Amino acid sequence: MLKELEGLQQQVNAELLISKTEEEFLALRTKYLGRKGLLTGFLRNLGNVEPEKRPLVGNRCNEIKHALSEKIESALSAIARLKQDDYLLRERIDVTLPGRKVRLGKLHPIIQVSRDICEIFAGLGFSVVEGPEIELDYYNFEALNIPKNHPARDMQDTFYVEDNIVLRTHTSPVQIRVMEKQRPPVRILSPGRVYRPDSDISHTPMFHQIEGLLVDKGITLGDLKGILTSFLRQLFGEGTALRFRPSFFPFTEPSAEVDIRCVMCSGAGCRVCSQSGWLEILGSGMVDPAVFKNVNYNPEDVSGFAFGLGLERIAMLKYGISDIRVFFENDQRFLEQF
Ligand code: PHE
Repeated sequence: MLKELEGLQQQVNAELLISKTEEEFLALRTKYLGRKGLLTGFLRNLGNVEPEKRPLVGNRCNEIKHALSEKIESALSAIARLKQDDYLLRERIDVTLPGRKVRLGKLHPIIQVSRDICEIFAGLGFSVVEGPEIELDYYNFEALNIPKNHPARDMQDTFYVEDNIVLRTHTSPVQIRVMEKQRPPVRILSPGRVYRPDSDISHTPMFHQIEGLLVDKGITLGDLKGILTSFLRQLFGEGTALRFRPSFFPFTEPSAEVDIRCVMCSGAGCRVCSQSGWLEILGSGMVDPAVFKNVNYNPEDVSGFAFGLGLERIAMLKYGISDIRVFFENDQRFLEQF
């Protein structure tokens, strides 16, 4: 029996020597120390040993068992430690690395200008209304007193979608849509995209306008001048000089274009103002009675004024931009400046 045990011991030592991995040590544990293990089985058969030799063989077997168990457990814990070290090394965080910058989005300069203007008029009780960009000929032209085949249509080159459907050439159709639905008083502002087949450094086929309309009892040209003056001074600065120039729009009578002193040269004359010292900023006028009739307002009862301006032009003057096309190229380096 003792000889058999020594044989087992040699086998154990040999196998311990070649075991390296966690799996190998676990297999070793099962093979010798498990419930059906070789050493466990040996102890269970101790009853077959002659009684006087039994303590000796039993002790020896237990010694071998304990020694083996100890070796296996310490090998397993060494392996676990190595695994942990390796994990910590791989997962190490370099706290000296600079952080990743969070890039914040920004509003497009055209949107910013639009919001600035809406805010100024919000203080005067104007609310913001939007309308469709694909518009019926009726709203874009006819209801605004621009009949078919009338020479006034030449003022605005037009993209036709179908015979009676256009890409709106201005934001004025929104006036009609609002007045059709709402009885006076009306105080609205309507920003949005408009379209004309034009393309050069100061024109893009799509651009933005903002429309204003105020209708109430007893509104006069004095109200138009007062409100537009206050608006333009809030937008361009308190001391801004203005000029109201007689003009023509089919939907207003009388009509006026409003100029401001050139913000680049303060009136001395430069390239931006074509040496005139003035910059044309907006179109305006008293709502034509013919327009009121189209929306069933009584021109004997109410009066009002309207105005429209191009947002790109305002943004170009405000930020000193000389080519309108940069607004729509989506170059991050340009857009990040605002
Ligand atoms: N709709 C005109 C244009 O685009 C501007 C305007 C609006 C003029 C309102 C007068 C009144 O040219």
